[in-house]
Order: sequence, then structure tokens, then C-alpha cells
Amino acid sequence: MQVFNTKNELANRIAGLKKEGKVIGFVPTMGALHEGHLSLVKASKKNSDITVVSIFVNPTQFNDPEDLKRYPRTLEQDIRLLETVDCDIVFAPSVEEIYPEPDTRKFDFGYLESVMEGAKRPGHFNGVGQVVSRLFDIVSPDKAFFGMKDFQQVAIIKYMVKQLKYNIEIIPCPIVREESGLAKSSRNTLLDEEHKKNAPHIYATLKKARTLVPAMEVKEMKKWIADEINRNPFLETEYVEIVDDTTLKVTENWAEPGTKVACVAVYAGKIRLIDNIVF
Ligand code: PAF
Repeated sequence: MQVFNTKNELANRIAGLKKEGKVIGFVPTMGALHEGHLSLVKASKKNSDITVVSIFVNPTQFNDPEDLKRYPRTLEQDIRLLETVDCDIVFAPSVEEIYPEPDTRKFDFGYLESVMEGAKRPGHFNGVGQVVSRLFDIVSPDKAFFGMKDFQQVAIIKYMVKQLKYNIEIIPCPIVREESGLAKSSRNTLLDEEHKKNAPHIYATLKKARTLVPAMEVKEMKKWIADEINRNPFLETEYVEIVDDTTLKVTENWAEPGTKVACVAVYAGKIRLIDNIVF
């Protein structure tokens, strides 16, 4: 496994591999790797010749400086983990390497960024657009793999790929969960014991909600999910939304065509968790 810290060295290596006709798969991450990330690496290895993983905690996508400060950073452990799954190339740049000057680009993701994470975390998706487009330019992947836990992010990236005319196939991969049902997330390592014990109540509630469709109206269902999660004294719901899986249009009633996804953001103490379930 090769580890690169500079974009020029990495881009040169990729150019050589492309000349040999290799298909490049890319898994962008912010590190603190867990089985969710490793499942993306495995999907990339299955579908590409060479797998590149980037590890970069992107400051421009954090709307809360405290969140950026406490985001876990475990580079050495991450590199060891990536060796166990035969990753080919790791790209671990510094902030200056990615942003030699501040990125002042403003993306327009239209409606897609007006709901859920976009509404609650102003600037977040603009930062995601900035870093992912820079990484795409450096890595020039043929395929890129993203986890469905960040369901809205996947929709935004697909949109950006069309907007900026990247010739990259975006491959969404299923959520990986702890045995308890809690969606794997780098943020889970920040949960104290009590919150970790109670956080699985989020997915348990979503699963229960799925059994209540269509008997319960959409509006009633959203309230039910929030109330049910909040019943747990260690959890506080920030939002519950039920949306179309591609347009993210907010569902008004079950009869609307298309697949519906219920999405939540929940505070477990100071730690903000997101999760979703396909209905
Ligand atoms: O999903 C993430 O971990 C990040 O948003 C990403 C895509 C690596 C960009 O920083």
C-alpha cells in the first residue's frame, strides 16, 4: 500500500496507472475509519483495479468549530486498517495541500440543499462540494463510493457530478450497523458509555415506524418518530423528515410515487448522529 501526502505525487502515480488502463476506484473519507468505510473499500476493490482512499478532515464542511475540533483523528490506526483490506493507495494531505488558498467557490445545489442537513448545517454541503471536487480533480477516479448513511450527501454529489460534468460513476453503498443497530459512524467513538447504550433506540424507532406505514399518516408519523426517540432521556431529535429517495422532495402522503426514506438527526448528548431507513 502506498501513502501519498502531496497531490502532485498522487496525481503522477494515478496518471501512470491510467496509462496502463487501470480502473480507479475512490473512497473519500475523513478518517477515524470503521467497518462502514471498510465496506466501501471492499466495494471499490470488487469494482475497480486500483482503490484510492483519501483521509482528510475537511474544515470547510464544518459549520460548528467545536465539532471540527473534536472530530476524531486516528491516521496511524486508519493506515493499519486499510492495509488489512488491501487498499492500494492512501492519500492523506494537509489542509494547506488541499487549500493553498481559501476556496471561495459557491455551489448551487438548489432544492437538494434546502432540506434536512442543508437546512440545519448552513454551508456544510458547499464545503463538501469544495473538497470532493478538489479530490476528484486530484484522484481522477472512474468510480467513487459513498455510504448511504449520508443519504443527502449522495444525492448532492450525484448532482454535482452532473453539474461539473465529471465522468465518474457514483456508487452508493448500504449503511453498516453495529450489532445493536446503531449506524456505524466515526462520531460513535465520541459517545460516552451511557449515550452509546441508548443510541440504538434511534434505529429501533425507525424500524418500528416502517411497520406503521401506511396506517399512520405522514405528518403523524414524523411526530411519532420524534416523540418516540425523545422518550429516551439521552436522546433529542433535531429533525425527522420523510423524503423521496432521488429528488429529496418532502413526502406529504404515502400515495405519492417513488421510494420514501425517513431521515433523522438526533443529539446523543453533544454528539449529533444521523440515520435513515427506506420505507
Ligand atoms: O462523508 C464524508 O466523510 C465526507 O463528507 C467526505 C465525503 C469525505 C468529504 O469530506
